[in-house]
Amino acid sequence: MIPVVTIDGPAGTGKGTIAERLARHLGWHYLDSGALYRVLGLAAARAGLAWEAEADLARLAAGLRLEFRDGAVLLEGEDVGAAIRTEQAGDAASRVAAHAAVRAELLAWQRQAVQAPGLVADGRDLGTAVFPRATVKLFLTASPEERAKRRYKQLKEKGLDATLEGLARTIAERDQRDRQRAVAPLRPAADARLIDTTGIGIDEVLEQVVRVVARQWPPRTVGPGGG
Ligand code: DC
Repeated sequence: MIPVVTIDGPAGTGKGTIAERLARHLGWHYLDSGALYRVLGLAAARAGLAWEAEADLARLAAGLRLEFRDGAVLLEGEDVGAAIRTEQAGDAASRVAAHAAVRAELLAWQRQAVQAPGLVADGRDLGTAVFPRATVKLFLTASPEERAKRRYKQLKEKGLDATLEGLARTIAERDQRDRQRAVAPLRPAADARLIDTTGIGIDEVLEQVVRVVARQWPPRTVGPGGG
C-alpha cells in the first residue's frame, strides 16, 4: 500500500503551499488537483465551450494533452502555468468542475498519481471521492477575510491585478458553488482532521501537519549500529 495524504479545503487556506512543502519534506510526489480543473477551464474557454455543455467538456477532459514537468504545466506542449493562476481561471475551474461527467474523466488521472514512496494531494474532494481510503486526511479552513487577504498577497506577488473586495466576492462565490454542487462537493471527510489556520503562519501550519503525519509514519530511528 502506497501512503496517501489528502489536504482539502476552500480557496485561500494555503493548502497548496502546505501540500507542496509537505511532499518535499517527506520526499513524496505531489498532486495539485485544482490545476487539472484550471487547465480544463482554460481549454474550455479557448475552445469557446459553454459552462453548461457537460458532454463537450467531458470529451475535452478525456482528450486533454496535459503534462506536469519540472514544476511546469504544459497544455498541448504550451506552458500555461501562469495563465491558470488567475482568479478568472479559478472561476472557470469551479464551473467545469461542477459536472459529474467531467469529474469522472479526471478521476483516473488523479489516481495514477499514486506512486511510491507516497503521495500528498490537495483539492476539494480528495479525502471524500478521489482517495476515500487515504491514511491521513486533513481539511484546512480559515476565516473568509483571511483567505481573501492571502489570495490577494499571492496574486500581487505574481504581479497580477486584484482588489481585496473583488477577491473576497469571487472566492465566496466559488466556495459556494464548490460546496453546493451535487457531485463531490467541498466538505471534510468524516475521518478528516480539521485545522483552522486563521491567524497562524504557514510555517506553523506545516509543523502541525508534519506532526499529524509523523504519528502515522514514525520516521525510522537508526542507531549507531545501523538500526
Ligand atoms: O484549488 P484550486 O483553487 O486551484 O481549485 C480551482 C477550482 O477547481 C475550485 O474552485 C473547484 C475545482 N476543484 C474541484 O472541484 N475539485 C478539486 N479536487 C480541486 C479543484
